[in-house]
Amino acid sequence: MSTETAEYWRQRWLDGKTGWDRGTVSPALRHWLESGFMPPGRILVPGCGNGYEVDALAAAGFRVTALDIVPEPLEALRDRLAHRGLQAEVVQDDVFTYQPATPFDAVYEQTCLCAFRPEARPAYAAQLARWLRPGGTLFALFAQTPWRNGPPFHSSPEQMRELFGADQWLWPDQADLTVPHEAGFHELGYRLARR
Ligand SMILES: C[S@@+](CC[C@H](N)C(=O)[O-])C[C@H]1O[C@@H](n2cnc3c(N)ncnc32)[C@H](O)[C@@H]1O
Repeated sequence: MSTETAEYWRQRWLDGKTGWDRGTVSPALRHWLESGFMPPGRILVPGCGNGYEVDALAAAGFRVTALDIVPEPLEALRDRLAHRGLQAEVVQDDVFTYQPATPFDAVYEQTCLCAFRPEARPAYAAQLARWLRPGGTLFALFAQTPWRNGPPFHSSPEQMRELFGADQWLWPDQADLTVPHEAGFHELGYRLARR
C-alpha cells in the first residue's frame, strides 16, 4: 500500500506501528523555542500525529494549526489540549490538498516529508512553499536513515537542497542541530526562509 494513502497511515495507527512517536516533545523544538529563533506567530504542523509539539507551541503563545489525515491521533490531541486548557486549530485533511485561507508565518515539519516516497516529495514541497508567506520560516527535520527503503525515507542534505530550490528558499550554511531518534536514525534540523 502506498505511503501516500490515508488507509496506510490509519492502519499503522490502529496497529500501533508508530515507531516515530517519541511520546514527548522533540528536543529540536525545545532547542528552537529556547534559542529565540521562533518568534510566536501562526504556525502549521503538518502530519502532526500525536502532536506533542502542538501543545508546546500553543503553550509558548503560537497560534497553531495541527494537520493530520488520521482521526485517532487528532482525537487524542484535542482531548489533551482541552485537558491542559490550550487552544489550537486541529484539522483532519490531506497535506497534498490542504489549503489555508491565509499563509502561515512558519511551518514545523517533523517526520512528515520522510514519510512519503521520494516520488511524492515535489508535490509535498510545493505545498510547503504555498503554505508559507514570503519571509516565513520552514523549521525542517530531515531524516538521515541507514535504510534503502522507508518510511522513514532517507532525506540527505543534497537531496533536500535540490528539492527546496534556491529560487524559492534561502538556505543556511549548515544545520542548526542533529537530533537522534531511538528508532535508529537521526534528524538534521534546518531553518529555511521562504523567499
Ligand atoms: C511518521 S508520522 C510523524 C508524526 C509526527 N510528526 C511525529 O513526529 O511524531 C507521519 C504522520 O503523517 C500523517 N500523514 C500521512 N500522510 C498524510 C497526508 N497525506 N496528509 C496528512 N497527514 C498525513 C500520518 O498519519 C502520521 O501521523
